[in-house]
Amino acid sequence: MTPQTLTDMAVAVLSTHDGRTKTALSRAHAATWFAARAAGRDIPLGHAQPPLRPARPAQPVLLDPRDVPRRRPGSVQGRIALLHAVAHIELNAVDLHWDIIARFADIPMPLGFYDDWVKSADEESKHFNMICDCLEAMGSHYGALPAHAGMWRAAEDTAQDFMGRLAVVPMVLEARGLDVTPGMIEVFDRAGESAAVAAMQVIYAEEVHHVAYGSKWFHFLCGRHDLDPKTTFHDLVRRYFHGALKPPFNEEKRAEAGIPPDFYWPLSEAGSIQG
Ligand SMILES: [Fe+2]
Ligand SMILES: [Fe+2]
Repeated sequence: MTPQTLTDMAVAVLSTHDGRTKTALSRAHAATWFAARAAGRDIPLGHAQPPLRPARPAQPVLLDPRDVPRRRPGSVQGRIALLHAVAHIELNAVDLHWDIIARFADIPMPLGFYDDWVKSADEESKHFNMICDCLEAMGSHYGALPAHAGMWRAAEDTAQDFMGRLAVVPMVLEARGLDVTPGMIEVFDRAGESAAVAAMQVIYAEEVHHVAYGSKWFHFLCGRHDLDPKTTFHDLVRRYFHGALKPPFNEEKRAEAGIPPDFYWPLSEAGSIQG
């Protein structure tokens, strides 16, 4: 059955177990949404309820982060493990973006809000597929190794708090991706793995936009509720994010994404604005 509303589409993606099937459906729904927008016959949002946790494949086995074997990027096996971890993050991100669409659909937002997250979900789906292609070219696949359990924790913790979700998911977790991706690109570049380098460069360029969408809509809601963005961000991250933010920060890309230094430095281990 073809979903009739955007929240139906979101729930269909969230309820799909297999990774490649999930991303194919995600991309098809994104294409349907944007084709309808371009034709001026917008798809209604509807009220479909997302599951508390998305469906996931039987493999990979999910382990406590402390029990996931350490990666040594100097070896092929280490690089496979690194790509596997990235694939896991991307699949989680597909679900996170569809989840924010469905979970908070009763809060009135401009249609551009949905455009941004549908586009992000489409890009995460592409990222997952690209990284899976790299893994398969290296003789592995998503599911071959254990992966972190608890990646959905941020979603569950903020299931009732729209601004908390925007603060923690795009503005903390995805911003962290901007900090660490250049180092990963270097690892694959040194190893001469050009397909992985190309995939990660696409991811790096597109992730800036996901962080920027988070910042844009967070500031929008602060304006709607007459809240100070910086102190509200600090309060929400302290409430929902467990632990300090880890420098070094990619200040340039964070700035490009609309996140100024006084948003993250006070939440870091150092705890004060530096440099
Ligand atoms: Fe991504
Ligand atoms: Fe992202």
